[in-house]
Amino acid sequence: MDWEILKAAAIEAMTHAYAPYSRFPVGAAAIVDDGRVVVGCNVENASYGVTLCAECGLVSSLHASGGGRLTHFVCVNGEESIIMPCGRCRQLLWEHGGAELQVLTPHGVRSMDKVLPDAFGPDDLEA
Ligand code: THU
Repeated sequence: MDWEILKAAAIEAMTHAYAPYSRFPVGAAAIVDDGRVVVGCNVENASYGVTLCAECGLVSSLHASGGGRLTHFVCVNGEESIIMPCGRCRQLLWEHGGAELQVLTPHGVRSMDKVLPDAFGPDDLEA
């Protein structure tokens, strides 16, 4: 796994962020289980709460380009530093990658079940 290539894709996506309110651009990139790379950037709104995180765009791109499961993920800020996905976006990542999704964090590579312990997810709806 070449994390530098995936991080470079996240950095490139970050350059397209629309973040005039926070001035905190974010880029996200992931590998899909068929080898595709999907990316996203944050898109803010004058109605601040309507902001779309970079991960929202990434997940939309995942499905718009054919679906599948996320296997590896990284997101970066405007300084090109790796950041943790926010809480809401951890839930998005859980839905589309599950416990095995590998996340490059500021503390190294973590499985998604370490990034979002005791997650609620699709399996809970089976009960
Ligand atoms: N942001 C993301 O895009 N993803 C995250 O995981 C963390 C936060 C964005 C939302 C907002 O546009 C800006 O970063 C500051 O919170």
